[in-house]
Amino acid sequence: MHAPSTSFTLTDWSRERLARTEAALSAWVVADAPAGLGEAMRYAVLDGGKRLRPLLVLAASEAVGGNEAAALRAACAVELIHAYSLVHDDMPCMDNDVLRRGKPTVHVKFGQARALLAGDALQALAFELLAPEDEGIPASVQATLCRLLARAAGHNGMAGGQAIDLASVGVALDEEQLRRMHRLKTGALLQGSVMMGAACGRPDATAARELERYGAAVGLAFQVVDDILDVTADSATLGKTAGKDAEQDKPTYVSLLGLERAQAHAKELLAQAFEALDACGLPDTRALRALARMVVERDN
Ligand code: IPE
Ligand code: IPE
Ligand code: MG
Ligand code: MG
Ligand code: MG
Repeated sequence: MHAPSTSFTLTDWSRERLARTEAALSAWVVADAPAGLGEAMRYAVLDGGKRLRPLLVLAASEAVGGNEAAALRAACAVELIHAYSLVHDDMPCMDNDVLRRGKPTVHVKFGQARALLAGDALQALAFELLAPEDEGIPASVQATLCRLLARAAGHNGMAGGQAIDLASVGVALDEEQLRRMHRLKTGALLQGSVMMGAACGRPDATAARELERYGAAVGLAFQVVDDILDVTADSATLGKTAGKDAEQDKPTYVSLLGLERAQAHAKELLAQAFEALDACGLPDTRALRALARMVVERDN
């Protein structure tokens, strides 16, 4: 595999993709839902967030030469599911957080009932985006994207992982149990982002398999680093309350392995992600490589 020799920076690559994603999210999450629901939905989605999942979708799609219209829809759909998962994660019945993306959480601002419904409506909108009429996206691609997103978000993905998380307060999980919880609650949606991007094109079996492996490594690394940042970063940098995991007695990679071994593990997972890209046989994986590095080296 020979990467093209022109210089690449993630900042340059991301700029236009982030602008396109923001514009599409703002256009698709309209404010005119009844009784203030639209306002809560826009508050949950817009003006914040690293947009890591959309960037993974777009990078994977570009790596396989995927359909651009499908990829933009997939990028936004994943972000809507993510935003909904954050709204519900922050509610008093879950993590009871008051700060998210540097702002009061949705239930603090709009009340619990509207936060619940905003999450519900964002989830539905995600699937609506994946199945447009008259855009020339083949029906089989639309169906695959819906299936991948449903799997990543559902009982054997994010929602299942969140159930394990809530059932594990005060419980000392072993590494295998913790890995499973993290793979489901967070890893599944990140891996799903990569697989959805790949599904916008027609990767061969090797590329599809290795991108899946890349997504698994990046997905787990992401939550290991989230656990680390909860301990090492401050609330202003994170845009959410630091130190919540220990306060709420949640099992994390830091509580299990200690800070140094958790950091070392994140680096091992980054190496696994790079190995998968080396083996995938695609000509240009620079954006995917840079995104994996960003996941592990980020400070928020
Ligand atoms: C935070 O995700 C929640 C987890 C899944 C751990 P991000 O760190 O991607 O949050 P935003 O989207 O940038 O706010
Ligand atoms: C959340 O994990 C995972 C989701 C599915 C939203 P956390 O509870 O650790 O996320 P933060 O730290 O609140 O962002
Ligand atoms: Mg949580
Ligand atoms: Mg939380
Ligand atoms: Mg966390």
